[in-house]
Amino acid sequence: MKKRIGVLTGGGDCPGLNAALRAVVKTAMTKYDYEVIGFKDGYKGLVINNFIRFKPGDVSGILDKGGTILGTSNRDNPFHFMMKKDGVTEYKDMSDRVVENLHMHDIDCLVVIGGDGTLAAARDLARKGVNIVGVPKTIDNDLNATDKTFGFMTAVETATEAIDKLHSTAESHHRVMILEVMGRNAGWIALEAGIAGGADVIVIPEIPYDIHKIARSVLQRKNEGKSFSIIVVAEGSRPIDGEPVIKKSEEESHDSVRFGGIGNKLAYDIERLTGIETRVTVLGHLQRGGRPIPYDRILSTRYGVAAVELAHREEYGKMVSLKGNEIVSVSLDEAVGTLKTVPPDGELVRIAKSVGVSFGD
Ligand code: F6P
Repeated sequence: MKKRIGVLTGGGDCPGLNAALRAVVKTAMTKYDYEVIGFKDGYKGLVINNFIRFKPGDVSGILDKGGTILGTSNRDNPFHFMMKKDGVTEYKDMSDRVVENLHMHDIDCLVVIGGDGTLAAARDLARKGVNIVGVPKTIDNDLNATDKTFGFMTAVETATEAIDKLHSTAESHHRVMILEVMGRNAGWIALEAGIAGGADVIVIPEIPYDIHKIARSVLQRKNEGKSFSIIVVAEGSRPIDGEPVIKKSEEESHDSVRFGGIGNKLAYDIERLTGIETRVTVLGHLQRGGRPIPYDRILSTRYGVAAVELAHREEYGKMVSLKGNEIVSVSLDEAVGTLKTVPPDGELVRIAKSVGVSFGD
């Protein structure tokens, strides 16, 4: 009997998911003559048995497409699965159902493409005896056991392009322009796009900011004859004497808090302290959508191929990972739990400071 691989994409989408799926399906079907079953909308498809049997043509023409042809969800943890009964919301452990469905489909190995929440559930399924291999994705780049998650560099490209565009209008109107980007606990997008786009101030969750120091650096620029400033702020940032700005809470999600609004808070304070007109752009889900840049297409292809190779060698309970320029594997235990945040005294922060960027610290 042919071996069979299951695959799903979980968590928030990001550019490169389709490229990773394509690599998994092509390698499994053409190199090893496996069958591949795709479960729809993350773990939900495994719980309710919503699936497709891949044919090789199904992944043709998707390398450059954003999103995921399988669908995804950042709220369907099989160990804490939301169900509605008589209009009442309740949460149930549906992991046994997942195991049953995998047996029913004769799945030899499940490839799970996801971020911290999706991979934490993968680790827990592995502890229940499921043969599982993880692939790291997220625009946040906050997974600890890999140098890069795919999707991140495309998000940085999108944010950098936004900064480039904000520069010209900031200069014309002599304004402060604030760009709020994603980044819950980790400020990687703000930091890298901020450096690449030549931001004057970068605000990240790892370095709580002093609004007076930010205002001072904006005024200093004005005194030097630079009539505008560009500020990039990660959504999860907070002032030294305050809290992050939370938009809402979504109970059923792994990371229940939804941030949003720190850009407006900064704008209000900066205008008040400097008298300079300030405008805010919230980049939001534009960072998650659209075509992956070549870097992410290549990385997700490398990961997808490596995941099938792990499955073929029956090396389960592992996640593929980038270390330097090598694709390696790490245990799922190592891969989840601790997030990779920006070291406040790391090289990127130091070089940004060397070229005059203020972090408000
Ligand atoms: O984890 C990826 C991410 O895009 C975060 O940067 C952001 O805070 C969150 O997802 C947004 O989630 P949602 O798509 O549910 O609004």
